[in-house]
Amino acid sequence: MKELLEQIRIKAVAEIEAAENTEELRIKYLGKKGELTAVLRGMGKVAPAERPIIGQLANEVRATIEAALTNKAEEQKKKEMERRLMTEKLDVTLPGKIQTVGHRHPIAQTEEMLREIFIGMGFSIAEGPEVEYDYYNFEALNLPKNHPARDTQDTFYITDNILLRSQTSPVQVRVMENKKPPIRIISPGRVYRADPADATHSPIFHQVEGLVVDKGITMGDLKGILELFAKQMFGPETKIRFRPHHFPFTEPSAEVDVSCFVCGGKGCRLCKGEGWMEILGAGMVHPFVLSNCGIDPNEYSGFAFGMGVERITMARLGIDDLRLMYENDVRFLRQF
Ligand code: DAH
Repeated sequence: MKELLEQIRIKAVAEIEAAENTEELRIKYLGKKGELTAVLRGMGKVAPAERPIIGQLANEVRATIEAALTNKAEEQKKKEMERRLMTEKLDVTLPGKIQTVGHRHPIAQTEEMLREIFIGMGFSIAEGPEVEYDYYNFEALNLPKNHPARDTQDTFYITDNILLRSQTSPVQVRVMENKKPPIRIISPGRVYRADPADATHSPIFHQVEGLVVDKGITMGDLKGILELFAKQMFGPETKIRFRPHHFPFTEPSAEVDVSCFVCGGKGCRLCKGEGWMEILGAGMVHPFVLSNCGIDPNEYSGFAFGMGVERITMARLGIDDLRLMYENDVRFLRQF
């Protein structure tokens, strides 16, 4: 028995020293079914006089194996630490990396300015889907199938009745269908048209739609709101001008110009000598549109307007080609 214990001691220590994974060896020798445990189980067969001696020896063997395991574990820890110190070397003399901070795109900046101005006047934000039904984009807005004004807003069709919205005006319909007046919303978002890209057109662009519906709303309210907006957007000296126009969803309709904030109306390069810049379309919501949305035009009236965010950005920043804003060359974007 003594020899057996000594053999176990020698074998265990040698194996532990050579091992990578000591956990297996702990089980092999000291575990419930381990070799040392098996020996101790056989104590019954040992002569009673011998038992204390064998017992003491067994305890010593156990202590030796445990010490070998602990040593090995510490040795491995040290090795691992050395390895990490070698591989994670940090050269504090290297020059630092310059962190460049980005900023919002000019189109996003304009949209945020518009949101803030209109929220300041008590409007809230409404959003609608970019993939829209023909009904909301056209029909409910008094543009029945085959209406000639559809040609100017040719867009991308998904099916005969589903398309990429060509304007943010469908959000008007969705809001009026779901909410009783008073309504005071703006709706910013992306719109699509089958226009080839040039200096003033893009197949994807952004609009902000506005809608106010309540009892007794007049064209005077429309003018007042738009004048306030123009002064906040382009400066306190800004004037606005209404020119008669036609939109199927408003009656009467107007195109609205702002006095050029560069030359103050005298005519310059930015306004192409006009003194004015066209920035939006507007009008009194057509009675058909109100009744299409379940609002009684005899009780309520409203105004609406729609503007192109790109156009306002170009005016605000003096950008003469819309495509520059989509190329996202940082040398261009950094200027704003
Ligand atoms: N949806 C029009 C367009 O894309 C812009 C517009 C004009 C919107 C008049 C309106 C409006 O709400 O009343 O050309």
